[in-house]
Amino acid sequence: MHVDASTLSPAETYRLLVGSVVPRPIAWVTSGVDVVNLAPFSSFTWVSQHPAMLGFTVNRRADRRKDTVLNIEEVGEFVVNIAGDDLLPALHASSEFLDRSESEAERLGLALAPSSHVRVPRLRDVPVAMECRYHSTNVFSPTGGEFVVGTVVAWHIADEVVSDGRIDTDKLRPLGRLAGPRYTSLGTITELPPVPGG
Ligand SMILES: Cc1cc2nc3c(=O)[nH]c(=O)nc-3n(C[C@H](O)[C@H](O)[C@H](O)COP(=O)(O)O)c2cc1C
Repeated sequence: MHVDASTLSPAETYRLLVGSVVPRPIAWVTSGVDVVNLAPFSSFTWVSQHPAMLGFTVNRRADRRKDTVLNIEEVGEFVVNIAGDDLLPALHASSEFLDRSESEAERLGLALAPSSHVRVPRLRDVPVAMECRYHSTNVFSPTGGEFVVGTVVAWHIADEVVSDGRIDTDKLRPLGRLAGPRYTSLGTITELPPVPGG
């Protein structure tokens, strides 16, 4: 199969992207202060190593921008939580569309904990949470969504996932998003000798 990208509609392009870029890590984002919004975003990566800066794409709903991007721009802060695979049902359920006045965290009974550097709370029971200060929203095209970037100002890492001062992937048990409502968790880990200069 060969596809000329210029012939594709936005929906067709999305289908190829979510099938090609897999598995994707998932930013489970808390935003807002009075009402704490919670939503997963798998168009997620880091964009700078030092300072650590994270980014994810928030697509537009038909008629309005999503609560997450509205909150982040309004408050100037957010938290990227990383779920272990035990939290998959809650993570999936938190993508439900709720009115901006309702909290997905509260609806799902997920405990929050205060952050240290930002006003937005983090999820208490995740293995990793990264407190972020909002940096920018970048729009690359009218149909491409909004790429939100923040700088990590503090990390919370559960002692149980740390070995020798590093985050131990086996203990973290991260989730990956596939196309559609499908996920993967950690499979076989293969370790190879380092490549000189690599
Ligand atoms: C695992 C997962 C990953 C998702 N990734 C994205 C994404 O990268 N971008 C996006 O706009 N929506 C994504 N969604 C959908 C949003 O989570 C969903 O639209 C949510 O209701 C947005 O919440 P908000 O309006 O409270 O910000 C994803 C949903 C799931 C379940």
